[in-house]
Amino acid sequence: MTEKKIAVYPGSFDPLTNGHVDVIERALEIFDEVIVAVLHNPSKKALFSSQERVEMIKQSFNGLKPVEVDTFDGLLVDYAKIKNATAIIRGMRAVSDFENEFQMAMMNRKLHKDVQSVFLMTGLRWIFTSSSIIKEAAQFGGNISDMVPEPVKLKLMEKFPKLK
Ligand code: PNS
Repeated sequence: MTEKKIAVYPGSFDPLTNGHVDVIERALEIFDEVIVAVLHNPSKKALFSSQERVEMIKQSFNGLKPVEVDTFDGLLVDYAKIKNATAIIRGMRAVSDFENEFQMAMMNRKLHKDVQSVFLMTGLRWIFTSSSIIKEAAQFGGNISDMVPEPVKLKLMEKFPKLK
């Protein structure tokens, strides 16, 4: 029997965007299961708690796809090992993402040579979306409804009353 190919997709996901969803769907074309791993880092200032972020991701996929949602802390490669994942997925939007991603991938390889970093290009539609730019717009009532899944939009509306 061939072994299930598992990938970890780590990130802050504060909050999940349609760009992230696009990357997850692309990863599911290559891997049997994708574990969306939300970094739990209490010292990093975030809009949503890690539990809220996990809930929003779960609601967005609604158990329809082989997507597990979890939190992790400490080293990503240690988490990947525990989960039997053979790959780390990261989304790439523009060249500006490259330097930081390259550095992280090289460090992860140094720490654990058997886990591969796989970079997926987001769809052109999502090239300029990011959690931070969406939060910035939402805060001032900017319409972000086609950039995030519905459960995320509802949570953003709770945080930002100006958002309709
Ligand atoms: O969505 P983000 O904020 O770009 O995700 C960054 C993340 C969570 C992937 C990165 O900070 C991470 O892997 N943190 C865990 C700590 C770790 O393993 N560091 C060593 C590799 S640089």
